[in-house]
Amino acid sequence: MYAIIEVGYLIATLSFLGGLKFMSSPKNAKTGNLIAAMGMVLAVVLTFLAAITATVPYTNLVIMLLAIAIGTIIGKRLSDKVEMTGMPQLVSLFNATGGGCAMLLGLVEANQIDLSTAILGNKILLIAGLITGAIALTGSIIAERKLAGKVKDRRSKTVIFSARILLVLMVLLPVLYFIGIIPIGFNALMYILATLAMLYGVLFVLPIGGADMPVVISLLNSITGIATAFAGFVYGNKAMIAGGIFVGAAGILLTLLMCKAMNRSLLKVLAGTFKKSKNGIVEEEQDIKEISISETALSLSFAQKVAIVPGYGLAVAQAQHICGQLQQLLEKRHVEVDYIIHPVAGRMPGHMNVLLAEANVEYSHLKEMDEGNENMEQYDAVLVIGANDVVNPAAENNPDSPVYGMPIIRAYESKQVIVMKRSMGKGYAGVQNDLFGLDNCSILFGDAKASLQEIVNQLKLI
Ligand code: TAP
Repeated sequence: MYAIIEVGYLIATLSFLGGLKFMSSPKNAKTGNLIAAMGMVLAVVLTFLAAITATVPYTNLVIMLLAIAIGTIIGKRLSDKVEMTGMPQLVSLFNATGGGCAMLLGLVEANQIDLSTAILGNKILLIAGLITGAIALTGSIIAERKLAGKVKDRRSKTVIFSARILLVLMVLLPVLYFIGIIPIGFNALMYILATLAMLYGVLFVLPIGGADMPVVISLLNSITGIATAFAGFVYGNKAMIAGGIFVGAAGILLTLLMCKAMNRSLLKVLAGTFKKSKNGIVEEEQDIKEISISETALSLSFAQKVAIVPGYGLAVAQAQHICGQLQQLLEKRHVEVDYIIHPVAGRMPGHMNVLLAEANVEYSHLKEMDEGNENMEQYDAVLVIGANDVVNPAAENNPDSPVYGMPIIRAYESKQVIVMKRSMGKGYAGVQNDLFGLDNCSILFGDAKASLQEIVNQLKLI
């Protein structure tokens, strides 16, 4: 039986790897998710089998089955109910349970290990798993609440100072315990550390800006992975070690990718700051050209190739369905339509992909930023729907701009740009957009959904 379980764990590990590989393209992501989920089911079944063969008491088996049943029902209900755009919140909640699980494992094991024979390495692993798990538990809950708009940013000096004190204590206490300076038992130490780490999780996330929560969630996800890997080492469970390392690595890579695409360091995101302009931001007056609904409809219908650049405003306006209708209408008129997606358009990873998938836009129409940029001169018109920072040429031309260095969609290189927005309001980075003053750019003011609806109505008449 031992050999079967070990081979099964290897298969589960391979399926996590295969799942991750498939998830690297939107087209295969669903299959990837399924493969990884099957691997997880296999790992759970094998762990249950291992418990049976290790003659675990009957009551424990019943508790395990009950936990699996409750977890499955709650997980299924939450996933069925959640809106596509609420996905980061749900991921954050699931992440909290993973962190909580790692923390509880640490507490339970601390009760069970034989302190006279346990090696130092095992105790350190238990402490590391407990602390990382506890931080991920409360940090993820606060991140979820902030994303839901229920908890506000608290960037006070007291919060930041208290978090630093807790961090120092979490390192210092175990060191003092191992040197033998503090006269408490290992169990008591673990409970104290769990409390400190849970408090730290709250104070760590509270000061970070609400819109940066996707980055934080990805980071906390990575921390949960690391906590799971620590727990896996304690139990000698290879699937747990491999799964934890995959989650830890994937989480940190996604975190860094998001920071790179926003042109901000992880430290700046965590400190809630933007790069400051060296000479102060001097905003030049822009000569803005307005365009009307009928002019926009005409331009689009006479174009051969149109690119749509969606941004956060598309999500705010919930204009994805009407945008899909516009695409279909244009295609009926033999206009070729592409969507160019910036990696950090919107406020969460894959935000635009999720919205467009909701509107049943086919993947073949989606172009990544680099591909879109390569062919930008071929587009007769680029329709920017509620995007701002991700098309700001200041990111390339103005070293003083806070967005300087951020990769952008070079809409300005196309023949004509039409930007749909409600006002001269700025984007997330809070800076003026140099695109709006260019000769080939016009602005169609209004809510994206209402304007798109009117364009569609006009196109039906032309
Ligand atoms: P933004 O730069 O945030 O600009 C959004 C634009 O949408 C605004 O200019 C706003 O102008 C317009 N808008 C808002 N509601 C609208 C509506 N109902 N109808 C029409 N327009 C509307 O968006 P972006 O270009 O997508 O850039 C994303 C930004 O978020 C980047 O700076 C990125 O670094 C940051 N960020 C991204 C993520 C991820 S992971 N995606 C995470 C955190 C931060 P008006 O107010 O004038 O309408």
